[in-house]
Amino acid sequence: MKAKTYRLDRFISQKSRFSLSATRLLIAQKRILVDGQPADSIQQKITHFTHVVLDGECLQANQPVYLLLNKPQGVVSATKDLKHPTVLDLIQHPQKAALHLVGRLDFNTTGLVLLTNDGAWSRKISLPETKLVKVYEVTLAKPLTSDYIAVFNQGIYFAYEGITTQPAQLTILSPYKARLSLTEGKYHQVKRMFGYFQNEVLALHRASVGPITLEGLQPSQSRELSTKELQAIELAFCSS
Ligand code: URA
Repeated sequence: MKAKTYRLDRFISQKSRFSLSATRLLIAQKRILVDGQPADSIQQKITHFTHVVLDGECLQANQPVYLLLNKPQGVVSATKDLKHPTVLDLIQHPQKAALHLVGRLDFNTTGLVLLTNDGAWSRKISLPETKLVKVYEVTLAKPLTSDYIAVFNQGIYFAYEGITTQPAQLTILSPYKARLSLTEGKYHQVKRMFGYFQNEVLALHRASVGPITLEGLQPSQSRELSTKELQAIELAFCSS
């Protein structure tokens, strides 16, 4: 999925005192710089992250931000909430106000949450076609049996959405603990899948999303994704 693009002349007319038609002249006079280079066409496409300068004045200099948070229990996966702390309350970043969540975890679910200001990136991560694997560690109220493995692999019908879940891989770690790998993120998906067996989920932790793990990050801590991690996600998109 490509980033949303805008025409340069529209952007200039919205952000400056110049009209759409005046933009052509500004370009001919080389007064507009796009990512450091003189603009060459009024139809030139720019994105939210393109650096645009007009007559030496910066009109847009947004930097993409990609953050990883280890969400603790009792925190809402939202940017605002009247009653409870939100994941955004745990973030200290100069561009915090522009961030949104890439998928949500329930109030008491712990683990990996991604935040960004890059809409194209978050849409790509969330698309089922991308098939980015999300790994959950689950603690159950009743003992697990091997029947679960085949049922989860075949998919479970969710009547509310009228869909069957994508094949999911279940590894039973002990009588009450399992690791579940999903390639999609339906509402309360893990709890509803175990709900098929009337087995209540007592604790749920998201350990990884694609190649990204929480290694070294304590609950409530966050950090920027490294270039290596961003490249690994891009590679995972390509191979899906
Ligand atoms: N599935 C759930 O049921 N809850 C979560 O928080 C995440 C996945």
